[in-house]
Amino acid sequence: MRQRLIKRRKFLLSLGALGGIGACTTSNFRNWHNLQQAFANGQNDLIAQAIPALDQQAAAKGLIYGSAGSYANLTSDSAYTNLFTQQCEILTPENELKWRRLRPTPKRFDFRQGDWLANFARSHNMQFRGHTLVWHESLPDWFEDIVNAQNAEQFLTQHINTVVKHYAGQVHSWDVINEAIDVKSGEPGGLRNTPWLKFLGRDYFDIAFRSAAQADPQALLVYNDFGLDADTPQADAKRNAVLQLLRRLKSNGTPIQALGTQAHLFANPGGTKFTKVRRFLGDVADLGLKILVTELDVADKNLPKDPATRDRIVADVYRNYLSAVLAEPAVIVVQTWGLSDRYTWLTKQQPRSDGAAVRPLPFDAQLQPKPAKQAMTTAFSQAPARSAQITQPTPTTFSDIQGHWAQPFIQALLDKNILAGFPDGTFRPNSPVTRAEFSAIVNRAFREVPQNNPTIEFQDVPRSFWGYNAIQIAVRRGFVVGYPGRIFKPQQQIPRVQVIVALASGLNLSTSDLNVLSVYQDANQIPTYARRQVAAATQREIVVNYPSVRLLNPNRNATRAEVAAFIYQALVNAGDAESISSPYIVQISR
Ligand code: XIL
Repeated sequence: MRQRLIKRRKFLLSLGALGGIGACTTSNFRNWHNLQQAFANGQNDLIAQAIPALDQQAAAKGLIYGSAGSYANLTSDSAYTNLFTQQCEILTPENELKWRRLRPTPKRFDFRQGDWLANFARSHNMQFRGHTLVWHESLPDWFEDIVNAQNAEQFLTQHINTVVKHYAGQVHSWDVINEAIDVKSGEPGGLRNTPWLKFLGRDYFDIAFRSAAQADPQALLVYNDFGLDADTPQADAKRNAVLQLLRRLKSNGTPIQALGTQAHLFANPGGTKFTKVRRFLGDVADLGLKILVTELDVADKNLPKDPATRDRIVADVYRNYLSAVLAEPAVIVVQTWGLSDRYTWLTKQQPRSDGAAVRPLPFDAQLQPKPAKQAMTTAFSQAPARSAQITQPTPTTFSDIQGHWAQPFIQALLDKNILAGFPDGTFRPNSPVTRAEFSAIVNRAFREVPQNNPTIEFQDVPRSFWGYNAIQIAVRRGFVVGYPGRIFKPQQQIPRVQVIVALASGLNLSTSDLNVLSVYQDANQIPTYARRQVAAATQREIVVNYPSVRLLNPNRNATRAEVAAFIYQALVNAGDAESISSPYIVQISR
């Protein structure tokens, strides 16, 4: 398993972003200033954006925070999608990787929605969880007629092998088996009566984990279950059965590395205590297993109707639960099953008898933070720090940047998590960058630039395109613009001059002195529309020319290395990065 230090947005974290909006130091002064303006103007989306996000608060303690998300919601609701990318560092497909969705027929696999989500996660620098390979629910209609004792092992291993290989190298962790304990089943060990148990006996656990480990040696392999949290006798029985299962698997040498505890909690008017779960998690950790809170939400069906009262009691449950489980250092991930009350499975699963909308998640249906979000923040800030993290399988050093002219720029942006390499261990510094990719990168580099420009719906950027959201944000921040007729050309390779103009526009750099352009031997090739902004960027030492520092090559397509160099220099100019010395940085005094 690869170890990676938490690097994400390190500079923000070091500010002690924990005190909510109260934290104010020099380098987030801009943020603070924007925030005050936003309050004055009543710009709620800006306010929510400026307040440190849940994933940042978690990352300050070496924890990963994220949520389940669905293809349907993330491709249709851009305000929600914005909130999601802002708050989450990890994404689990809510249903898209279950058998029912992946297996239209006994022979076919349909990865389209899963792939979209994997891509979406990667392009927004989120990690990706696999859920779930073996579950007695969400099986396709054909399953019952086709799968039997003779072919069950073949179906199981082929499914796991195909699906896990398909996403190999991209997955933080796989829920290999889900909900396989049912203490009332009457089976030995309280194993649930599933088709797999019926056909294969209890060996199916080992078969499943071994197939997954073979297909992706990097992903953390998880056993996931619910009902492990409360102080009740039922939960006691379930904890015992799960512990017994985990002990058996470990002593068998089954390749299991973590327990996922779903944590679908219930709020009660008199409060909810979690005094027993801590000891259980300690026992799990003693087996050498990591722990992930995978599906946290708090059902409010037992609470009075008044929303403020409900929100307060639900928040208490979040605070009490998280403070109990985060005391165990083996807990490395906290994930909620949804982010906003706008979309939650509890609407159907645990409705209120008075018909009022349920309020189980950290953000309300208007996407505004609730007391539960504050409670999570408090719990994260009080949690003991985790040391090094097992996080993503993606490598952090790349063979093909060693000795490259842009290596220091690229490495610095990798360290800041502004750029990422490919799962095969390459960075591909000389490859081109599309306008959509550039939009995603520039957003990650300049998260604090306010989104003040109008939204534009481009004819050639459908909502289902992975970069839809990134382009929207980059447009609102003023980094990129479309072509006439609401055309964006998201797949077009971006020329160097467009990168420079983008940075000058989004960062509001200007000059009236065009003489600086004489530093370029090919200055006559700079398009008229771009001259002022190229001059402004040049003055601020944002331009980097390789191989010849006097040749701008404005109309040549930018490479990933060049985009890295320009963006890094723009960060230096903004005071957000240390300067790097390179003979290729254009300095007018030379
Ligand atoms: C739920 C989804 O949220 C629903 O949309 C779907 O209809 C049923 O499944 N435990 C799990 C999740 O492991 O996969 C379930 O997700 C919630 C309970």
